[in-house]
Amino acid sequence: MKTLFSKRICGQSINLTQYIHDKAKAFKFNDLIDFAIGFPCENINKNLREGAIRALKSNKTIYSPTAGIPELRKIIVKNRLRYNKKDNALITAGVSEAVFLVIASLVNPGDEVIIISPSYFIFQNCVNFCGGKSVFVPLKISGNKFYLDIKEIKKKITDKTKLIVFNSPHNPTGWVADKKTIEELSKIADCRGITILSDEIYKNYIYNRKFYSPEEFTKNVIVVDGISKSFSATGLRIGWIVAEKNVIEKILPLHQLILFCAPTPFQYAAHDLFKNNYKASLKKHIDQYKLKRNLVFNLLSKISEVEVIKPEGTFYMFLRLKNYKNSIEFSEKLLLSKHIVVVPGLDYGKEWGSFIRIAYREPKNKIKEACLRFKEFVS
Ligand SMILES: Cc1ncc(COP(=O)(O)O)c(C=O)c1O
Repeated sequence: MKTLFSKRICGQSINLTQYIHDKAKAFKFNDLIDFAIGFPCENINKNLREGAIRALKSNKTIYSPTAGIPELRKIIVKNRLRYNKKDNALITAGVSEAVFLVIASLVNPGDEVIIISPSYFIFQNCVNFCGGKSVFVPLKISGNKFYLDIKEIKKKITDKTKLIVFNSPHNPTGWVADKKTIEELSKIADCRGITILSDEIYKNYIYNRKFYSPEEFTKNVIVVDGISKSFSATGLRIGWIVAEKNVIEKILPLHQLILFCAPTPFQYAAHDLFKNNYKASLKKHIDQYKLKRNLVFNLLSKISEVEVIKPEGTFYMFLRLKNYKNSIEFSEKLLLSKHIVVVPGLDYGKEWGSFIRIAYREPKNKIKEACLRFKEFVS
């Protein structure tokens, strides 16, 4: 069939994470260690699973209201500082849909969107889909830390800048923005009338730091978040947008157009999760990830061929390969030779070719084994 696809769709491609996983699967190595996959390896949170089963058994399987079931909308905004009413929330099919809805609702062809780089691929792909232009502001490295230089953001702002995409804790670096950085960014949003899209999906994965949302400092912010990462529930597809009521009302028709509503039984499951005490088990889970972060950092920082920056959040680490410029080639060789999957840094922007992302999600014995094989490979 000779099909002429739209320009919008031709600008899209499958990300390198998927590519490297497809390759790994094809080889069927039985001692493969997945240091790449972007979700926790634990089973789904128990209350969430039981809530889902209960919802299915009681036939909560029809369409919900387009904005989501009222009780879930209410509970997710309950403790928010600014946007804390039910009408401030829209339930989506994961943060992926939430990001798409926000960008598609705000960005006209020709509009510019500032994205902090390295960057999770969906941000620029959504901007591209809408005919907008992604303007990247790379994180800098100083004193073995990533940081955002606000002056660089200011330099990149033009009359066409519509949106700043912000993600802290940050995929792939594990960087966590400090209060001052977020205050300054919020000031820019206020002075220049620019909206901040704040992706807070990793907000619970934070180690020895306090989480700040731009929502605390500006009303020019749209927050997206969800249950995928914190509760090992990537397949339930539940996320949300939190914003001013009029923003939610404007976005709602597009959500109705593409999905009608987020999966109903899993909305009930998420409500069950939040209405019960979930904080103690979440803390245990995060404490485990802090130990894994320390383990992987201690093991990899002994390898002189890589530069390791200690992540302050998420379950990712972004490593610089001192002797490689092409991280795709490196990842392929590492897979073939040591049966370890990592994500090439190029997936997060063209200037990150000498970096790789690892996800320290596996049990500690596997992390140790992976670090050992990694060391043998690079040494
Ligand atoms: C920064 C970021 N935002 C959004 C997502 C997608 O989240 P969801 O599973 O809720 O669609 C991911 C997944 O890796 C992510 O890293």
